[in-house]
Amino acid sequence: SIVDPQLRPGYHFQPPKNWINDPNAPLYYKGWYHFFYQYNPRGAVWGNIVWAHSVSRDLINWVALEPAIEPSIPSDQYGCWSGSATMLPDGTPAIMYTGIDRPGVSYQVQNVAYPRNRSDPLLREWVKPGYNPIIVPEGGINATQFRDPTTAWRAGGRWRLLVGSVAAAGGGGARGAAFVYRSRDFLRWARVRRPLHSAPTGMWECPDFYPVEAAGRREGLDTSVPGRPRVKYVLKNSLDLRRYDYYTVGTYDRRAERYVPDDPAGDECRLRYDYGNFYASKTFYDPARRRRVLWGWANESDTTADDVAKGWAGIQAIPRTVWLDPSGKQLLQWPVEEVDALRGKSVTLKGRVLKPGQHLEVTGLQTAQIDRSVVESFGAGGETCILSRVYPSLAIGKNARLYAFNNGKADVKVSRLKAWEMRKPLMNGA
Ligand code: FRU
Repeated sequence: SIVDPQLRPGYHFQPPKNWINDPNAPLYYKGWYHFFYQYNPRGAVWGNIVWAHSVSRDLINWVALEPAIEPSIPSDQYGCWSGSATMLPDGTPAIMYTGIDRPGVSYQVQNVAYPRNRSDPLLREWVKPGYNPIIVPEGGINATQFRDPTTAWRAGGRWRLLVGSVAAAGGGGARGAAFVYRSRDFLRWARVRRPLHSAPTGMWECPDFYPVEAAGRREGLDTSVPGRPRVKYVLKNSLDLRRYDYYTVGTYDRRAERYVPDDPAGDECRLRYDYGNFYASKTFYDPARRRRVLWGWANESDTTADDVAKGWAGIQAIPRTVWLDPSGKQLLQWPVEEVDALRGKSVTLKGRVLKPGQHLEVTGLQTAQIDRSVVESFGAGGETCILSRVYPSLAIGKNARLYAFNNGKADVKVSRLKAWEMRKPLMNGA
C-alpha cells in the first residue's frame, strides 16, 4: 500500500486514503451519527469533490459507506461542495449544499437532497429533487463567492439559512458577509436584502450560526430553539484569506434579521475556535446527549509532494462539545466524552516541581500507538485549544517518548499528571 503507516493518526477521523477537507452535514438519526465530508476519490490533492459518508454509534468508531452526494445533476455536475443538514419537523433530514454548475469558473448555486428511504437508519441513498437548484446568485451577488449553506432554523412559521459570501467591496476591501434566505415551505427561498452580518475581513466560507445557553450551562440547544432572554448566539466564519475559523458571541434580532456581536470593539478576528490547524468547522445539535458538537478539518502542514507520496491528506479533529463560558464572553470546548473509552493503561505523577529548563519523562506507557502526526491540546478547561500537525522523523514507534517540560522562567508545579495508552478505534476499515 502507498499509505504511509508511520504518520497516520491512530484515532482521529480519516478515510483509508486520499484527500479530505471540510466536515459536512453532521447529524444524528435513529441511533447513528452521520458524518459527511469533502473527499477526492481519485487522489491526495483537492479536486473531483464528492461527499463521502461514514456512520458511527459513538463518534469514535467509524464505518465507511458509499459516497452520499456525487455530481449527477446539471446544478452540481462540476462539484458537490460544502453544506449542512436540517432536521425537518417530521424527523426527515434535509441536506443543503453548494453545487458547481459550469466548467472553468466555479459558479456556485445551492441544492437540496433528501434520503431515498427514511426507514434506513444509515441513510445510504440521497435523492436530488428535479426542482434544484433552490438558490442561485442574483441581485449583484458574486457567483464565485457564494457558498456553504448552514443548517436552517425555524421561527414564526418561516425557515432561514445563511450562505457565506462577500458584500459589495467598500473602501477597506471586500466585506465578508452571511446572507439570509427565508422560506415558508422549504422550497422557495428569498434573500433578505441586508446580510445577517458582515465585516471587512474578505470572503466568509462555511458560516455557522447557533444558539447557546447563557451563563455556563453545558447543555446544547437545537438550532431552532425559540428565542428567550437567556439564549445567546454564536456566529462563526472561516476566513478564506487567513485560513482560520473566527467566531463572535452576540444577539440575534429575528425581526430585523440581524446579528449583533456583544464585543463593543467589534473585532471579528479576536476569538478563534483553535489556535492551530483547524478550518471549515461546523457544529450540530446532538439530541441523544443534548449537546452541541463541533467538527473541524485539520489540513496537512507538510508539502503537496509528501501528501501525494503518502497517499492521503487531511484529518478531522476529535469532535468537541461546545458551550458558553460562565463569563458569556467566549466558548469552552472539550473532546466528546466518548473518546475516554479508548483509554487503556495509565500512569499518574503527583506534586512534581519543574525548574526552568528542566524536563521530566513520563515512563511506563507504550507510546507506539499514540497519535503520530497530530497533537490536540485543550488548555484551562477548554478556554484555549490548539491542534498541531507534526511529522516526526525520529520519534516514531518505540522511539516516541512523552515529556513534561518547563521552558519558562519560573518554577512550575505539576500537581497531577495522568497519561493513558490509547486503543485504536474502528476507522473506516483502514
Ligand atoms: C472550505 C471550502 C468551502 C467549499 C469547499 C470546497 O475549505 O473552500 O468554501 O465549499 O471547501 O471543497
